[in-house]
Amino acid sequence: MISTPLDPNAKVPCPYEPVCSGCQLLDKTYGAQKDLKTQELSELLKNHDIRYNGVIDFLSAGASHLRDRLDFSLIDGRLGLYGKHNKEIVDLDVCAQMSPELQSWLTEFRKIKWPISKGSIRLRVSPSGQRGVWLDFANVDIKALLDEKEILQKLQQEAFIEIGQRRKVPFWNGQEFKLKDPELNIWFNTWMGETPVDLYCHVASFTQPSIKANVLIAEQISAWVNSYPGARLIEFGSGIGNLTLPALATAHSVLACEIDALSLEGLEKTVSVLPPSLKHHAQKLKIYRGDFQKKILQDFSEFDGVLANPPRSGLMNFLNPLEALQESERPKFFIYMSCFPESMMIDMARLQSFGYEIQELAILDQFPQTNHYEVLGLLQRK
Ligand SMILES: C[S@@+](CC[C@H](N)C(=O)[O-])C[C@H]1O[C@@H](n2cnc3c(N)ncnc32)[C@H](O)[C@@H]1O
Repeated sequence: MISTPLDPNAKVPCPYEPVCSGCQLLDKTYGAQKDLKTQELSELLKNHDIRYNGVIDFLSAGASHLRDRLDFSLIDGRLGLYGKHNKEIVDLDVCAQMSPELQSWLTEFRKIKWPISKGSIRLRVSPSGQRGVWLDFANVDIKALLDEKEILQKLQQEAFIEIGQRRKVPFWNGQEFKLKDPELNIWFNTWMGETPVDLYCHVASFTQPSIKANVLIAEQISAWVNSYPGARLIEFGSGIGNLTLPALATAHSVLACEIDALSLEGLEKTVSVLPPSLKHHAQKLKIYRGDFQKKILQDFSEFDGVLANPPRSGLMNFLNPLEALQESERPKFFIYMSCFPESMMIDMARLQSFGYEIQELAILDQFPQTNHYEVLGLLQRK
């Protein structure tokens, strides 16, 4: 496994530490944060009677400045995150969570004076440095913005704009702004072996938070899938294909199961424009759309491995078909990645009762300075 050596005594300075709720661990050294998260995960394993005698690895891409997307609240002219002690927005002009590219985008973006009292704003930068913004405002405010014209005209020179829950794209028809359908663009990337792969999605799509930390994720997933060459995989929560593509590089096949139609449109586009050296992998991918926390009809005995990256609520009924199989018919391995260890433990306890044992476990610290962390686990059938 890969670990980046970092100064364990380093502390990240932030002028907003006393008031901003975004980072909870700024008062601790990075070494202390590592110990705290590792200790918390060990406790969770113990509390759920999950056996693991190995080491919990700690993978880090840095103690700060990792994020390439961040969601801000805009309330009465203040743009930032909620305060620690009250419901007020802390107006942030710098943030130690943001990558240098995202920080300079925020600095530019803050020059705009918004004629809107309340809304949510996501800023994002792509791997090539393209700037994006998602303005999630009430319909009445969207209309006011389209009518006002000047803000959108100026913003469009800087960035790609998406508006509202339906991710519509504003365009100028010569007389007025209109909204057109969402547009797929390259906002993130992943890796197939040594080759970076552009991922098509929307500014508003779910992606992992950091392009830099995602290199470690792709590396880990690839290493685990590679250790079962030619595996037939079923994947829960493929989204735009961030783990699907690293897995596809060496797997025999991947059945990507996902609920979100827009993410799947992105995945389909990505696969349709793979570079010539990777094109042959496209035929190994099948996509299956549905709510697989409710029910899945697939016969799990047809798969060698499962790759799961569920939402905070965990896998729920996706695991039911395993219960119905004889132990020897169950897939040989299970790769589980989660940003919500509590639900992961519930699923892992169930997997343990189905005969799986943890082989390797790692914290991927893609939310340094906060209480949050990603967990990656490889389980194998006894
Ligand atoms: C944590 S994200 C992971 C996405 C992707 N693996 C990545 O790394 O970008 C969880 C994914 O699970 C999907 N999802 C949520 N609920 C689902 C459900 N009930 N059935 C299938 N997929 C679901 C979400 O749409 C999202 O794409």
